[in-house]
Amino acid sequence: MQVIICKDYEEVSQEASRLVVNLLRKNPRAILGLATGSTPIGLYQNLIRAYNNNEISFKDVKSFNLDEYLGLPRTHAESFYSFMHRHLFDHIDIKEENVHLPNNDEDTLKKDINDYTEALKKNVPDLQILGIGANGHIGFNEPGSSFDSETFAVDLTLKTRIDNLRFFNHIDEVPTRAVTMGIKTIMRSRQILLMATGEGKAEAVMKMIKGSVTETLPASILQKHNNVVVILDELAASRL
Ligand code: PGA
Repeated sequence: MQVIICKDYEEVSQEASRLVVNLLRKNPRAILGLATGSTPIGLYQNLIRAYNNNEISFKDVKSFNLDEYLGLPRTHAESFYSFMHRHLFDHIDIKEENVHLPNNDEDTLKKDINDYTEALKKNVPDLQILGIGANGHIGFNEPGSSFDSETFAVDLTLKTRIDNLRFFNHIDEVPTRAVTMGIKTIMRSRQILLMATGEGKAEAVMKMIKGSVTETLPASILQKHNNVVVILDELAASRL
């Protein structure tokens, strides 16, 4: 695990975008695993800038997002589908048919989950971008999730729902379920880039890097991957 400690969020976003820009320049047909949340927004802004400066193109890039809420239509402003379009896809030349997020239609859930797993076996991400939850989750693999899982539907913990309350008006509006890539799917990616900023992540980051590998701290599995870059700000690194 390569750990890079930066001064602040801005530097974390710059360091992360350097890595992604280099990948896309070497491999314009790269498959990217993408994440939502507050952490990657700065990275996405830098990628949009690099695209506008003609440094990179996404015209042959495929993307697969980590997760999506259940119980919100894709058109809802806080669906991850909307988030990704608002923060990245609407501003670059990625083709809509190359954009993939878990489908969140309850009626076809079982088949859609299976299809997502199969699509990710055929399209193994060259780079998977990850954040980390304060409880050590990656994607929506909450503490206790099996290391052996592919895409699955998950009940969100109250902690995660409270963490995500900032995007909604009331806790009752925060979805209780989601579909997420499983740990096994995430671990198949060729390279993983995990970013974390702020003191609230310091304990989870410390356990991820220095603790034992355990399903109670899902991100700790990354110790077993041979190509992980962790980019932290000083606060997230403060317990290392
Ligand atoms: P955040 O979420 O980027 O909004 O902190 C990260 C996560 O929960 O994985």
